Amino acid sequence: MRTSDWDAKLYDTAAHFVTDYGAALIDLLDPQPGERILDVGCGTGHLTHEMRQRGAKVVGIDASPNMIQNARQAYPDLEFVQADASAFTFKEPFDAIFSNAALHWVTDAENAVVCMSRALRPGGRFVIEMGGKGNIQKLIGALFEALKKFDCHSPSHRWFFPSVGEYTSMLERHRIEPTSAWLFDRPTKLEGDDAIVDWFTIFGEAIRADVDEKCFAEAVRMAQVALEPTQRKDGVWYADYRRLRIIGKRLG
Ligand code: BEZ
Repeated sequence: MRTSDWDAKLYDTAAHFVTDYGAALIDLLDPQPGERILDVGCGTGHLTHEMRQRGAKVVGIDASPNMIQNARQAYPDLEFVQADASAFTFKEPFDAIFSNAALHWVTDAENAVVCMSRALRPGGRFVIEMGGKGNIQKLIGALFEALKKFDCHSPSHRWFFPSVGEYTSMLERHRIEPTSAWLFDRPTKLEGDDAIVDWFTIFGEAIRADVDEKCFAEAVRMAQVALEPTQRKDGVWYADYRRLRIIGKRLG
């Protein structure tokens, strides 16, 4: 896919697992009635809504106009703001910051941490999960290998998949004290027979490859074939997700 914005409807149908997995992260945050929470990279707003259901006052931000438009349509009583995670400010500080499967899209990670830290009140809670070091390494590797067949020898991607050390150091530099951090494998079930092709169709925008769209599509198909022995079990496809999950607290 070579579009400049998300197809929010396709995202909701084909990638609902993003929201499904996010529910456990909400449990970890344990939103309290009346608390002001900022949902960074809220996408179509389902988790923002879930936190509201628990009585919190939640604001969702996302860089994608399509995502924000869909979120507003689905949950008109909630506040959604189109904003870049690495360049936002709010007048009132929040009691907690929450982010699920979004921060790996933010290329200016340090400024995202600066913005999140500034938006948190002293003592405020910080609970995030994102792709961590080694995330989707097999998927990316298979695609990059396939692209070589089309004379594309130096493909790259724009995701940021940090290690525990990299991200927690950044948080410490900006007065968010990490109290727990995990990096763990979470093989993620994908739906359909062409699940790898579909995955790259939805998310492949972040891959820079010096080939035209037709060659890219062909390379994606070749990657799917190459991945079948390791990523398909009993007919079901799995993506090799690795999550970085961090809990922290804003220092005074
Ligand atoms: C992730 O959630 O890890 C992810 C999703 C889409 C693209 C890259 C990573």
